[in-house]
Order: sequence, then structure tokens, then C-alpha cells
Amino acid sequence: MIRIGIIGTGGMARVHAEEFSKIANCEVVAACDLNASRLASFAEAHNIPYAFGSVEALLSSGQVDAVSIVTPDPFHKNLSIQALEAGMHVLCEKPLALNASDAKEMADAAKKAKCINMVNLSYRNAHSLQKARELIAMGCIGNIRHVEASYLQSWLVSPKWGDWKTEDTWLWRLSSAHGSKGVLGDVGVHILDFVRFPVGEFASVNCTLMTFDKADNNQIGDYNLDANDSALITARMQNGAMASIHTSRWATGNLNDLRLVVHGDKGALKVSLKLDQEWNQLEVCLDEDVIEGVWKTVKCESTPNIYQRFVSGILSGKQEQPDFNAGLQVQRVLDACEQSDQLGQTVQL
Ligand SMILES: NC(=O)c1ccc[n+]([C@@H]2O[C@H](COP(=O)([O-])OP(=O)(O)OC[C@H]3O[C@@H](n4cnc5c(N)ncnc54)[C@H](O)[C@@H]3O)[C@@H](O)[C@H]2O)c1
Repeated sequence: MIRIGIIGTGGMARVHAEEFSKIANCEVVAACDLNASRLASFAEAHNIPYAFGSVEALLSSGQVDAVSIVTPDPFHKNLSIQALEAGMHVLCEKPLALNASDAKEMADAAKKAKCINMVNLSYRNAHSLQKARELIAMGCIGNIRHVEASYLQSWLVSPKWGDWKTEDTWLWRLSSAHGSKGVLGDVGVHILDFVRFPVGEFASVNCTLMTFDKADNNQIGDYNLDANDSALITARMQNGAMASIHTSRWATGNLNDLRLVVHGDKGALKVSLKLDQEWNQLEVCLDEDVIEGVWKTVKCESTPNIYQRFVSGILSGKQEQPDFNAGLQVQRVLDACEQSDQLGQTVQL
């Protein structure tokens, strides 16, 4: 039985607790948060026996074998390195770090610790994305020419997920001083991985970031709302393909929608994910259907999610993907996007 501790007990921690609770051979035995009341109600809601007010107390307790780090982004680096140095296996939330040099330190610490390390690029859980990668690797769509991808959210215009003007869980995502890299670090990281996982590595990016006005002086309490809200990226991939990628929190009408279309010289694939829909439908235009541009829907087999792969990796000793090194590769693309926006020019990777 793998004993897991969850560090950070806010919005996303609930998903970690629920997903681990469905897996045999593991148990969430500990939770940790600096906010005592949030910690207590989380531990009670999920029947977690041990609650710790500091990571040091959790790591020295002797009660856990592995941790899930679900704090805001600026704490990922130190918490991961502390946990790895204490001999814990680590599943860390995305983005792995605030920049590639921090992510590299984390990947080095993971290599040295010889512990299982994974970053929660959770949209790899989509069976359709896994199938798309498999078909591309088999050569089913030929040489890739064009890629179109988007991750569109609307929490700045829709109260569906809560009130961003009053809730910390949203406000820190809008403020650089609170460690947010804006939409780019929040969900841009997902869509960049959504592209590179099936298509391959990026060669260069040209990115424009935008921060729209959203409050008086763009200030709410301690939060200066300066982090980017929207990103437009054009890219070249190492295999020669061109890509256009778009992500925003202002995408009215789209609660949480991801889309990837990959066009090869023999066929094309389309993955589209929406909230509350099964992630097992892949659209394909292959073989003779290319002539008339006919798309068919394929139902994809289930693949294990990241929580299952983390536990099975610990049990087998086999490092599963995406590991910290994969988190580092995406982080390099995120850094290049920021740099491109600042310089107003294309940045090579
Ligand atoms: N993979 C995904 O699809 C996905 C989805 C949502 C959020 N996330 C990521 O999960 C992380 C957490 O997001 P959230 O929405 O749950 O944030 P949140 O603000 O709702 O919760 C974060 C919690 O961490 C606690 N915390 C902060 N510093 C801490 C520390 N040093 N030690 C212990 N606890 C600490 C806070 O008190 C808070 O309770 C972020 O990195 C975010 O990017 C990932």
C-alpha cells in the first residue's frame, strides 16, 4: 500500500484525493496546508487521518511514501526538492516551476533522488490524445504540415467556477507578484504539451501576450492584476510543421475547451475536449476520405490516468510519463513564449 500525502488543500487537491481514492494499492493518509481551517475541512471531507501545518512536519512524520504537490506555482520547486531529498516520490502540479532554470534544478534533484517524479499535465489523460499520438507515430497521417490548437476558458466573464473578484484561488492566477505566469503558465502549459506530446518538439515560437483591464487600477486588495490573460502563438515544430496556438480566459462561450487539429500529407486528426464529456472520441480523416475531406469519429480505448500511472510507477519502479524532464521541456517553450512577447520577435528553442 503506497501512503500518499497531499500538500496544498485548495481547489485542485479535491481531484487528487478523489482520483487516488479510486486506486487500489494506495491511500491518501496525510494532508498539509498553511491554512489551518482549509486543511481541517479537507482532511475531514476525504477521511484523511493525518493533517500537518507544515511540509517539514509531513516529511518527517514517517507516515508517507509519496506526495502530491498541489500548491500555487511558486511553491512547486522548493516543496518538490524538499520531498525528493526526503526520499519521497513526487507528483507535482503544473507548471512544474516558474521558469526553465528552476525546472532544471527540479529535474536534476529527481534524477539524483532516484524517486518516481511526475508533473500533472493532466490532459494527457485524454484517451483520444493518446490515440492521436499513436496514429501519428505509426505514420497514419504522413508528414505533418499544419497544427492548430487552442485552450479556451471564460472564467473572467462567467461565474460558473466561482467569483474571481473575491476568491483567492482565482486572484493569485491574475497577479505576477503572487507567482502567476498568467494564462500562459496556467493553461498555456497544457496546450503546449497537448501539441508537443503527439507532434514532437518545438523549434521556434512567436508569441503575443495580452492583459486586458479588469478592475479599477487593475488592483483588488493585495492583488495587482498584471498577469497575461490571453496568448497567441505561432510556432515551427522540429519536424517542419507550422502551428498556431491560442489560449485565453476571456473566451466567452467556452468553459474549458481544448482543441487540436493535426494535418499531415496523408490524413488529419482532430481531438476536442469539453467539460463533462468523455475524452474518448477522436475525429479522423484518413485514406480515401482525404479526397472529399470526410471526417469519421473513432471511439478510443481507455488509457490509465496520471494518478494511476504514478502509483503503478512507484509499485513497479518504472518511471512513467510525463516526468520532471517533460515538465522542463514544456517550461523551456513557456520561457521562449514570454521572451518572444518581450522582444517582439521569434525565439528559437
Ligand atoms: N492539472 C490541472 O489540470 C490543474 C487544474 C487546476 C489547478 N492546477 C494547479 O494546481 C495548483 C493548485 O491550484 P489550486 O487551484 O488548487 O490553488 P488554490 O489556491 O485553490 O489552493 C492552493 C492551496 O495551497 C496552499 N498552500 C500554499 N502554499 C503552501 C505551502 N507552502 N505548503 C502547503 N500548502 C500551501 C494554500 O493555502 C491553498 O489552500 C496550481 O499549481 C495550479 O496550476 C492544475
